Amino acid sequence: MERVFVFVNQKGGVGKTTSAVNLGAYLAETGKSVLLVDFDSQANLSSGVGLANVKPGAYELISGQAALEEVIRKTQVPNLDVIPSHIDLSGAAIELVDQEKRDFFLKQALEPARNRYDYILIDCPPSLGVLTLNGLAAADSVLIPMQCEYFAMEGLSLLLRTIKRIQKNLNPRLKIGGIFFTMYDQRTRLAQDVVKEVSAYFKDTVFTTIIPRNVRISEAPSYGLPISRYDPESSGARAYKSLTDEMLRRIDDGDAAEYSAGETGPQENSAEGIFVHG
Ligand SMILES: Nc1ncnc2c1ncn2[C@@H]1O[C@H](COP(=O)(O)OP(=O)(O)OP(=O)(O)O)[C@@H](O)[C@H]1O
Ligand SMILES: [Mg+2]
Repeated sequence: MERVFVFVNQKGGVGKTTSAVNLGAYLAETGKSVLLVDFDSQANLSSGVGLANVKPGAYELISGQAALEEVIRKTQVPNLDVIPSHIDLSGAAIELVDQEKRDFFLKQALEPARNRYDYILIDCPPSLGVLTLNGLAAADSVLIPMQCEYFAMEGLSLLLRTIKRIQKNLNPRLKIGGIFFTMYDQRTRLAQDVVKEVSAYFKDTVFTTIIPRNVRISEAPSYGLPISRYDPESSGARAYKSLTDEMLRRIDDGDAAEYSAGETGPQENSAEGIFVHG
């Protein structure tokens, strides 16, 4: 069963961090123990749960300067812990590059946490660099948030090729847990078209839950709270609850997405092929 999930999209600002925080919080609300790992030097996840500028964190953990127990913090949500990050983590990207086994530091560091938590959710930076590769090597399943815009498609084929390479070289058990849409604005025709086309192509890999654009979601981090605590009745909260339920059903069903990057993945330059403009 998948327990370690990584949120990846090399495109910036698509909702990786927001989704990690809010899915994590709803998993914790169901009584599961959850560890969030902020693996981005922007440290947005850390501040989103009220832990800005906290050390030691992910950098100290992977560089061997701090033990796992020292870097795990509690959040305001019961059952929801976090390994925070800090701008220092940007240095790790450079330090790791020359190291043998550079892609496995996070996996090794989290090994003892696997048995202590029901779920571990890793947030990655907007790149396919060494930090994201560490995230993908450590995970059982990759979750891909996508914004409903044309350019989002262009990065998807590169991302899927990268995942295929990871499955071959670094982490054969990595599954594609799913693609889901964020910041959906139902008033725009383009958003509707993107959802339709991507869903037609990637079929069951796409979650049926769509996260709407909702101002309450963007306000919540400034209070250091997930949406489940900031405004549980908002449309954004209901959507993240539903996404969490859908994810749990998928895990229970053992229903790993049928799409495999290795088989029918889009070919080079195929973004246009997948998304046919209406
Ligand atoms: N559903 C939503 N409705 C409105 N605003 C949202 C929604 N989801 C995310 N946002 C806002 O959009 C911005 C980008 O979201 P987020 O930080 O989660 O993206 P990201 O992919 O983690 O970005 P980065 O690539 O920089 O790490 C944030 O300001 C966030 O509050
Ligand atoms: Mg982020």
